[in-house]
Amino acid sequence: MQDVLLRAQNLKKVFRSGDSDLVLFENLSFQVQAGEMLAIVGESGAGKSTLLHILGVLDSASEGNVYFAQLDLGELSEEDAAEFRSRELGFVWQFHYLLPEFTAVENVAMPLLMRGGNRREAEQQALHWLQEVGLTDRASHRSGELSGGEQQRAALARALVTRPKILMADEPTGDLDNRTADMVFNLIAKLHRDYRLTSLIVTHNLGFARRCDRVLRLERGRVVEVSPQSLLA
Ligand SMILES: Nc1ncnc2c1ncn2[C@@H]1O[C@H](COP(=O)(O)OP(=O)(O)OP(=O)(O)O)[C@@H](O)[C@H]1O
Ligand SMILES: [Mg+2]
Repeated sequence: MQDVLLRAQNLKKVFRSGDSDLVLFENLSFQVQAGEMLAIVGESGAGKSTLLHILGVLDSASEGNVYFAQLDLGELSEEDAAEFRSRELGFVWQFHYLLPEFTAVENVAMPLLMRGGNRREAEQQALHWLQEVGLTDRASHRSGELSGGEQQRAALARALVTRPKILMADEPTGDLDNRTADMVFNLIAKLHRDYRLTSLIVTHNLGFARRCDRVLRLERGRVVEVSPQSLLA
């Protein structure tokens, strides 16, 4: 089929809490093909966010490796990891983390400015992405004035403005009502297709997971692949 873009090999994560060790998962191995939309599901506390942080080089594994194409991410210095994240990855979290006093366009342009981009070009790109998420008419509103769904759409625009290869989302609809959640998920799915992204989406919403190409379930320290169709909508 296509190329393997991301490969997790024998990942283990242990958190030390007091005198005891919490082994969150062990021997976790899986691959993500370029272009796939992958859901990661599992009970609260199963380690989904921790796994996403490791895949996104925001945290390190206790053992094992993550490869992006041929690149071993565990080998990157902190500086190179930051550079890698800003070049190849876009993140969306449950909470939008926009800066409320800045306008939508300023928020979306920020990742480009932070990597030294020219303001005019950065704002042009930001406007393009605000259009993609249907927020053209909100571009000059302060993000604190936007609704929850609009803020999450702006956060999605901010994640994609740098043209990442991989979109990583942790409960991107977790803080939204059902209708707004549907809207934001549909938008993620559309942009995933239109921009040929590879997307990793942690979600509690099995209806959304069902619509992904593949579903990985974290349970009892293991990862199990389940068929999307087997999930109840
Ligand atoms: N920095 C840390 N130090 C110690 N324990 C941690 C740390 N981060 C997470 N944990 C523990 O690891 C477990 C998994 O946490 P994680 O946030 O990955 O779960 P999750 O599957 O994302 O859960 P949820 O669905 O509630 O978001 C939890 O029991 C949590 O308390
Ligand atoms: Mg979590």
